[in-house]
Amino acid sequence: MKLGERLKQVEVEEASSSTRPQLVSNDPAAWGRAHAPAGPRSVDALDDLKQRTQQALFARLGSRLYDSSLDADALHTMVMDELEELMAEEEIPLTVEERQRIVAEISQDVLGYGPLERYLADPSVTEIMVNTADSIYIERDGKIVPTPSRFFSDEHLRRAIERIVSQVGRRIDESSPMVDARLADGSRVNAIIPPLSVDGPMLTIRKFSRKALSTDDLVAIGTLTPDTVEFLSACVNGRLNVLVSGGTGAGKTTLLNVLSSFIPEDERIVTIEDSVELRMHQEHLVRLESRPPNIEGKGQVAIRDLVRNSLRMRPDRIIVGEVRGGEALDMLQAMNTGHDGSLSTLHANSPRDALSRLETMVLMAGMDLPVRAIREQIASAIDLVVHMSRLRDGTRRVTHVSEVGYMEGEVISLSDIYLFDYGAGIDDRGRFIGTMKPTGLRPAFSDKLEQLGIALPAGVFGVDDAVALLEEMRNYR
Ligand SMILES: Nc1ncnc2c1ncn2[C@@H]1O[C@H](COP(=O)(O)OP(=O)(O)OP(=O)(O)O)[C@@H](O)[C@H]1O
Ligand SMILES: [Mg+2]
Repeated sequence: MKLGERLKQVEVEEASSSTRPQLVSNDPAAWGRAHAPAGPRSVDALDDLKQRTQQALFARLGSRLYDSSLDADALHTMVMDELEELMAEEEIPLTVEERQRIVAEISQDVLGYGPLERYLADPSVTEIMVNTADSIYIERDGKIVPTPSRFFSDEHLRRAIERIVSQVGRRIDESSPMVDARLADGSRVNAIIPPLSVDGPMLTIRKFSRKALSTDDLVAIGTLTPDTVEFLSACVNGRLNVLVSGGTGAGKTTLLNVLSSFIPEDERIVTIEDSVELRMHQEHLVRLESRPPNIEGKGQVAIRDLVRNSLRMRPDRIIVGEVRGGEALDMLQAMNTGHDGSLSTLHANSPRDALSRLETMVLMAGMDLPVRAIREQIASAIDLVVHMSRLRDGTRRVTHVSEVGYMEGEVISLSDIYLFDYGAGIDDRGRFIGTMKPTGLRPAFSDKLEQLGIALPAGVFGVDDAVALLEEMRNYR
C-alpha cells in the first residue's frame, strides 16, 4: 500500500474509533500525537520513520550535539547535513511536504525542546511542568491544567533537558542530578533526574513574560487597588524596609519589581538575585547574580556573599530577589545600620509566618544568637510585610499589608493595615469580587512619612467610615 493511501486509512480508522488506545511513553505512535494533539491523527508509518531517523541522528551526532564550542549556526548546519544524509538513505517514498515536515520536526526536536516548543512559544502559558515523559502540565490564566503533549520516552525528555543545561555550560548526570538554568529568553528552568526523581527526569519552566506586569496591570488584574498602590509607593519612597511574602509562584518577584519601580531615579540601587528576574528602569543601577558551585563543588558565590559585598558598593537601596538562608542576618544588620529602604521577598504562608521564617533563616547564619535578640533585630529592621496569595479562582492578589511593630513581651507586634475582603463573595464565573480594604488602623510610621513630606492616601485610615461618622454627627445636631 502506498504511504498516501495508508495515511488516509489511518485517519479514517482513528476517526471511527471511539476509544483511543492508552498512551504508553515508548509507543512510537505517541510521538505523532505528542506533536499534533488537537489536529488529525498522525500516521504510524511516518511516526515510525521519524522516530527511527531521530534515534539514528542522535547516535551519529553523539556528544557533538552538546559541544559548547559550536555556535548555533554551526550546530544547525551539522544537524541538517546529517539529517539530510539519513533521509536520503530511507527507502520509504515521501512527498516533498512529508519530507519537509519530518525534517522540520526532527530538527526542532534535536535543536530545540520537542513537545515543549509550542508552550514555550505561547505567551499565554506562564509555567510548564513536566512530571514524567508522558505527563506535562501547564499554567494558563493562573490555572494549572494537564496537556495532551508527551515526550515519547524518558530518553527523549532527558535529551531535551541536556540541551537546555548544556547551553548554559552546565551538565546533568548521576553525579549532579539537579540543575537550575535559564533559557535564552530568560525563562527559569529546574531539572532533576533519577536517582533523585523517582519516576524519571523532571523539568519545571517558569516562563519569562516578554513584558513585565506593570503597576497599572496589577491594578487592572485586581492584584492591587489604586489606594494600596499609592500607599506602597509612599512607603517605598519613604525608605521603609519592605518584605514581600507569599507561596511558590504567588507573584512575589513580580510585585517586588513593581515596588522597585517606586524608587526615585537619583538613588543608587544594588540588586542581588540567584538568576536575574527583576527588570528595573532606573539608570543608577548595579545588578549582581550569585553563582552555584562548579562540578568540583568549588567557586560558589552565595547571595550572602553578595549582600556583604554590596555594602561596600555605596548602595542607597539593596534589593535581594529572595531571602532563603543566612543572608537574612546580613540584610537585617544592613537595614539596622542605615541601609533603609531595602526590599526583598520570602516564601511564607502569612505575614506572621514570614517573621518566623526570617527568624529561622537568621539561625541558619550560624551565629548562635538568642531568639529574643533575633526578634528585636527583625522588629526594628522590617517595617512592612506585603503578603500575596494565588487564590483558588486562579487570580493572584495582595491579601495583607501589615505593619511590623515593636516587641510585645516575646512576640513581634504585627498590625494589618489593608486586608483582602474575602467576605465580598464570588461572582458567577467563580472569581473573588473582594478587593483590599483598609482596616482603619493608622500605621505608626505615618508620622515618619509625613515628616519626609510624603502624604499617605486618605483611604489608609478608613476615611470613608470617618466621613460617614461626621455626616451622622451633623444630622444628629
Ligand atoms: N499579580 C499577578 N497576576 C497574574 N499573574 C501574575 C501576577 N504576578 C505574577 N504573575 C505571574 O505568575 C507567575 C509567577 O510570578 P512570580 O515569578 O512573580 O512569582 P514568585 O512568587 O516570585 O514565584 P517563586 O516562588 O517561584 O519565586 C509568572 O508567570 C507571572 O507572570
Ligand atoms: Mg520569585
